[in-house]
Amino acid sequence: MSNADATVIDHPLVQHKLTLMRMKDTPTAVFRELLREISLLLLYEVARDLPLVMEEIETPLEKMQSPVLGGKKLCFVSILRAGDGLLQGMLDLVPSARVGHVGLYRDPETLEAVEYYFKVPHSLGERLCIVVDPMLATAHSSIAAVDRVKAAGARNLKFVCLLAAPEGIQAFGQAHPDVPIYTAAIDRELNDHGYILPGLGDAGDRIFGTK
Ligand code: PRP
Ligand code: URA
Repeated sequence: MSNADATVIDHPLVQHKLTLMRMKDTPTAVFRELLREISLLLLYEVARDLPLVMEEIETPLEKMQSPVLGGKKLCFVSILRAGDGLLQGMLDLVPSARVGHVGLYRDPETLEAVEYYFKVPHSLGERLCIVVDPMLATAHSSIAAVDRVKAAGARNLKFVCLLAAPEGIQAFGQAHPDVPIYTAAIDRELNDHGYILPGLGDAGDRIFGTK
């Protein structure tokens, strides 16, 4: 389903698991595992248009031409630290993918993204780069991350999150109209502290049990 500038992956399994994640009493270990499971389902949809090439193989009975993924290995870029919660499941599905990291935190006063780490693989211009972060709130973090990944050479990008605020979708779309957004849900709005309502709270804290 496409909702203005974001594709909402409304598969019943995704929606059910997301509801469990939103519940305030869901324990850290369960939250983390649900995020891993959802990441597999999100990637399944996001990877729908990956290019295939035909390769000759031999079954036990005869030779045949059969499709395999073509082109350079794709690259996941995780926005630290909560992005790592989505990364593991995606790597389970595409183990040969390359991985980049952009370390960003939101300044609690200004809500601006502050960078503390950046490392990405070579030849980004020849790879599909899938940037992942569970939360798209003001979009300051995701815009800054995509700015950096583009500056490092990436040309073909997608952004995948779990929850998005309408404000974030609009801001991201204005900054990076060439980068499609995939999300499991679009929530109502942001509160005065830049948190998504109804949301699920602080994704990083819930994944890593830091609060
Ligand atoms: C959270 C989240 C996003 C960002 C989203 O990270 O994981 O990166 O906020 O908000 P934005 O769209 O308004 O930028 P946070 O800064 O809490 O850091 P963490 O991942 O280290 O917890
Ligand atoms: N970051 C989070 O972790 N949660 C929000 O609701 C907004 C930003």
